[in-house]
Amino acid sequence: MKLYLIQEHFGIDALTLAERDVPKPGHKQVLVKMEAASVNYRDLLMIAGKYNPHLQRPRIPFSDGAGEVIEVGPDATHWKVGDRVLGTFFQQWPAGRITPAAAKSALGGEIDGVMAEYVVFSEDGLVPLPEHLTYEEGSTLPCVGVTAWHALSTGGLACGDTVLTLGTGGVSVFAVQLAEASGANVIGTSSSDAKLARLNQLGVAAGINYRTFPDWDEKVLEITDGRGVDRVIEVGGAGTLGKSMKAVRIGGHISLIGVLTGQTGEVNPLPAVMKSIRIQGIFVGSRAMFEGLNRAMTLHRIKPVIDRVFPFDSVREALHYQESQAHFGKVVIRF
Ligand SMILES: NC(=O)c1ccc[n+]([C@@H]2O[C@H](COP(=O)([O-])OP(=O)(O)OC[C@H]3O[C@@H](n4cnc5c(N)ncnc54)[C@H](OP(=O)(O)O)[C@@H]3O)[C@@H](O)[C@H]2O)c1
Repeated sequence: MKLYLIQEHFGIDALTLAERDVPKPGHKQVLVKMEAASVNYRDLLMIAGKYNPHLQRPRIPFSDGAGEVIEVGPDATHWKVGDRVLGTFFQQWPAGRITPAAAKSALGGEIDGVMAEYVVFSEDGLVPLPEHLTYEEGSTLPCVGVTAWHALSTGGLACGDTVLTLGTGGVSVFAVQLAEASGANVIGTSSSDAKLARLNQLGVAAGINYRTFPDWDEKVLEITDGRGVDRVIEVGGAGTLGKSMKAVRIGGHISLIGVLTGQTGEVNPLPAVMKSIRIQGIFVGSRAMFEGLNRAMTLHRIKPVIDRVFPFDSVREALHYQESQAHFGKVVIRF
């Protein structure tokens, strides 16, 4: 089978296309023929050596994949040949609070990922692909879909709440779709007016171009009559958190998710104290959360937004495209 490997050197162009034997499923494992995978910002960091400079190599990258069960190992009872499945981001986080063991079980990081034609999964490390989704669509769910669902369901999103999303990458577009389905009012930002128009088509009530309006937090306050939003899906990190704290209402909620403005930086925490803001770190989610996301996707017939699909032999091009940030929603690879 063909697979991609992060070898000795980091970097997209150092990613190696290799050949290995098709693996055999062991005790309570199943073999999945991969059909599609999706690209995450995390994959860019991982392949660049910025997520973990000490990453054990060779490592098969990518966390998010969809495929078909083609062989069931000894004592595995959850799946049968022909089932359409999605790998869970954490292979060992069934439900409840995250544990140190769960945090070490992420595909395409601590353990090998899904950028291989055949992948062996633990039978507990899979969920069914919702029936209304194709393999390409399903492959977008494990990381950013579960993250957006986890963020919005933590602390209780009420119908009528106002949610602020930042930019139009994978997490934010999923958050828009799920918040809209929950009856929330969404304000979205983007660097592009064309992308803001697309957010508008997804139901976003007000869009702010953060390039044209670098003080986008003030625009948010203007739009909400000075009150601020109930919740922020914070994917920017240190470079945006200060403004997110200004844009959220007193007693509001910030889901701390991303590092798009860089992995370090200084933030004044005082507004969080003075406004009694709840700041919650979100690390993808458990299998139970994935099942919750899938119920919501199925009930509301939500289709993930796919920007472009690349063939398996163009994984490097897909990564460069994701890196350019020209995409809206998700970039997908078809095997
Ligand atoms: N904690 C977790 O569990 C978790 C899970 C998933 C992702 N993440 C993190 O969340 C972040 C987003 O991930 P993703 O996969 O959705 O990324 P992505 O698809 O690569 O998002 C890229 C988009 O982000 C927007 N953006 C970039 N800089 C921005 C800024 N300064 N302000 C506002 N928007 C900005 C841009 O949108 P426009 O072109 O519209 O401006 C850009 O196209 C990453 O840092 C990722 O590592 C964390």
